Parts: sequence; C-alpha cells; structure tokens
Amino acid sequence: MSSSRRLPLLLSAGVIAAAGAFASAAEPGHFGYGQRATPEQIAGWDIDVRGDDGMGLPAGKGTVEKGSQVFADQCAACHGTFGEGEGRYPKLAGGTGTLRDDRPEPTVGSYWPFAPTLFDYINRAMPFPTPHTLSADDVYALTAYILNLNDIVPNDFVADRESLPKVKMPNRDHFTWTDPRPDTEATSCMNACTGPLGVKITSTAEGKDLTPRTTGPLDTMQSQ
Ligand code: HEC
Repeated sequence: MSSSRRLPLLLSAGVIAAAGAFASAAEPGHFGYGQRATPEQIAGWDIDVRGDDGMGLPAGKGTVEKGSQVFADQCAACHGTFGEGEGRYPKLAGGTGTLRDDRPEPTVGSYWPFAPTLFDYINRAMPFPTPHTLSADDVYALTAYILNLNDIVPNDFVADRESLPKVKMPNRDHFTWTDPRPDTEATSCMNACTGPLGVKITSTAEGKDLTPRTTGPLDTMQSQ
C-alpha cells in the first residue's frame, strides 16, 4: 500500500525544491528562468560581415584552387561547375555590362558592390540545403573561386580578411548611397501635418460606421 501512495507527495516536494532553486538564482528584475548566453553562444550568432570594409571577417584564408574543389563538391550541382547555373538556380558569374539591357543578368560579378558580402552570404546561407556547415577556410576559398570565375581576381589570389575588402567589384561605383527623393527628407509629425511635404487630411473614417463599435469579444477583454 504505502509506497504507491507516498509517490505523489514525494514528487510535489521535488517540484517545490526545484522552484526554490530557480527563485534563488533570479537576479533582481528578472524572472528566474533562462540562462545567460555564454561568449561562445554569442559568437555563434555574431557572424555578420560588413560589405565595404569587411568588418567581422573571421581568421582564415582560402585559395582559388581549393575553392574550385569545394565548389565542385558542394555547389556545382545547383550553380554549375563554372557558376553558369544549372536549370533555374542562380548564375554566379557573367552578365557584366547587362544591367541596362532589357533582360539584365545580375550576378555576383555584374551586380554585387562588395566582395566581403560574398563571404557573408555563403557563410550564412549556403550550401542551400545545409547552411553553416562550411569552415571559414572553405568559405574564403569559395569566395576566391567565385571572384576568379568572374575575372575579378587572378588565379593565385588568396582570400582572407585583409584581401577581400581591397577587391574592387565591377559594379561598385554604380550604386547610389544617398536617396534623392524629396519625401525622404520629411520630418515625422503627429498632428497638423501640412506644408510642402506634409499630408493634408481631407477626410477620416470616423463617423462612417466602418469599424463596428458594438461590444464584441475584444472590447470585453479590454474592459476587464
Ligand atoms: C540545392 C541547391 C544549391 C546548392 C547546393 C548551393 N546553392 Fe547557392 N543558391 C541556391 C539558391 C536557390 C539560391 C537563391 C537563394 C535566394 O535567392 O534566396 C542560391 C544563391 C546563391 C548565391 C547568391 C546569388 C545571387 O547573386 O543572389 C551565392 C553567392 C551562392 N548561392 C553560392 C553558393 C555556394 C558557394 C554554394 C556551395 C557551398 C552553394 N551556393 C550551394 C541553391 C543552391
């Protein structure tokens, strides 16, 4: 008899003990659950690389030759051996000078403004089915290979955190960094928003019975 009856009591005592442990771990102003992220965990998320100066590029390096091997194994099935694109998968090379054509071909070579962005993109998103599986050295090598396919770097190029920001991409100077549209200079306002760039309110929905005012579940919840 006794052992099976005593079990629920023991269990609940255990639950209370566990809750007590959490409560004592709580810092003032916190709820006492979750845990502080470790530097390693934060490093796992903090992988962004800035385009123009390559800030955030990790240690490591890779050659065009090594990149051609990794590319053949991991990328060519979709992007073609020379970046020409299989089926409807994107081309990674070519298209230079086509951006003003009726059928422009935007690729890494013809369109992208910064080489470090290529590292960043591959590192976070490719290979498409298994992202985040490549080493930094492999991503550097792939970056070198794709830049070489586009005739942007020579065969003996070594990609690393020093060399990539120095690569001048063909379309680099054709991006506009300031937005010349007049409405982007408007300052925000919450009332009396008229003037050259402001909006004149000519009518409102108020009084047109567009939003039912009858008491529904939402009103009931809010009034509680
Ligand atoms: C299973 C197919 C597949 C594989 C394998 C694959 N990719 Fe991709 N890749 C894609 C698709 C699909 C896109 C477009 C994704 C999008 O636009 O959201 C893409 C986009 C890209 C782009 C951006 C192209 C652009 O101009 O927008 C790059 C660079 C790239 N892949 C590199 C690689 C590299 C390097 C590898 C090997 C490590 C790889 N991909 C493996 C399917 C694949």
